Amino acid sequence: MRSLLFIPGDDPKKIAKGLGSGADALILDLEDSVATSRKAEARALVRETLLARQPGQPRLVVRVNALRSGDIAADLDGVMPGAPEAIMLPKCEGGADIQHLGALVAVREAENNLPDGGTRIIAIATETPIALFRLGTIPGASQRLEGLTWGAEDLAGAIGAERNRDENGFYTEPFRLARSLALFAAAAADVAPIDTVSVDFRNMEALRAECLAARQDGFTAKMAIHPAQVPVINEVFTPDAAAIAWAQKIDRYFIEHPDVGVVGIDGQMIDRPHRVQAARILARARAAGVLG
Ligand code: COA
Ligand code: MG
Repeated sequence: MRSLLFIPGDDPKKIAKGLGSGADALILDLEDSVATSRKAEARALVRETLLARQPGQPRLVVRVNALRSGDIAADLDGVMPGAPEAIMLPKCEGGADIQHLGALVAVREAENNLPDGGTRIIAIATETPIALFRLGTIPGASQRLEGLTWGAEDLAGAIGAERNRDENGFYTEPFRLARSLALFAAAAADVAPIDTVSVDFRNMEALRAECLAARQDGFTAKMAIHPAQVPVINEVFTPDAAAIAWAQKIDRYFIEHPDVGVVGIDGQMIDRPHRVQAARILARARAAGVLG
C-alpha cells in the first residue's frame, strides 16, 4: 500500500471519483470532514459503498470517530455489515486504545458473521500530546494493527501552536518530533509507517519533495486528500528500476553465499542491515506489481 486517499464519507461524487483514482486504498471518513448533522447519512453511504465494491478496486478503510467522541459505536454498527478491510482510529492514545477498538470490532465481526480478527486497524498515533508519550505501548498491542500514521493538524490545535510549518513549508520542531516518533513506533510494531497528508493540495512540487523525504526516512506510504496527489505518491513509493536492481543483486549475493557476513559490492560495505533493506525493497516492488 503506497497511497491512501481520504474521502468525506457523505460525498457520493468524491467516492465515485476515488474508486477510479488509482489509489491503493480509500479512507472513507466519518470523522472531521463530515459535519455532525451528516454523520448518519455518511454511515449509510459508506456501508453501501462497501457492499457494492468490486474486485480490483482500492482497499476500503473507514475512519471512525475517536473512542472518546461518543460516535464510535454508531459508526461501527453502521459500517461493519459492509466488512471494511480496515478501521482507521483517529486520536489514538496508545496500545490500550487499539485493544479497545479491537474489542469493539470483534463484537461486530461476530454479529455480522465475519472472520474473527479479519478487520485490520490503522492508527493515527500523534494527534494529542499524551499520545506521543504512549507510542511505546503500541508494539505488541494487537495483531489487527497493520499501519501507523501521524497527524500535525489536531496536534497543533492541542498544543496551541500558531503554525506547524515554517516559511519554507517544512514542519517545525514539535511536529518533526511527532513524525519521527511515529516512524520509530511503526518500525518497533512491525507495521507500515504511513506519512501524513499534505494539505497544500495544489502544490505538486512540494508534495513530491515531501514524499521523497518520507521514503528516504523509511515511510512506505502517504495519505492524500485530493486525487491529483495519488499519482505522485504512487510513483515515489514504488521502487524504481535502479533500486530493484540493487536489491536483487544484494539478495542474490547472500543467497549464493550464505556463510558470508560482510562483503564489498560496488565499492560499498554490505552486511545484514543491507540485506534487510533489500528484502524490504523487493517486497514493496512486488506489492506495487512492478516485480513478479
Ligand atoms: N476524493 C475524491 N475526489 C475528490 C477529492 C477526494 N478527496 N477531492 C476532490 N475530488 C474531486 C472533486 O469532487 C472534483 O470532481 P469533479 O471534477 O468531478 O467536479 C475534482 O476532484 C477536483 O476537485 P477540486 O475542485 O480540485 O477540489 P475541491 O475544491 O472540490 O475540494 C477539498 C477540495 C480539500 C475539499 C477536497 O479535496 C476534499 O474533500 N478532500 C478530502 C478531505 C478529507 O477527507 N479530509 C479528512 C482528512 S485530513
Ligand atoms: Mg483530524
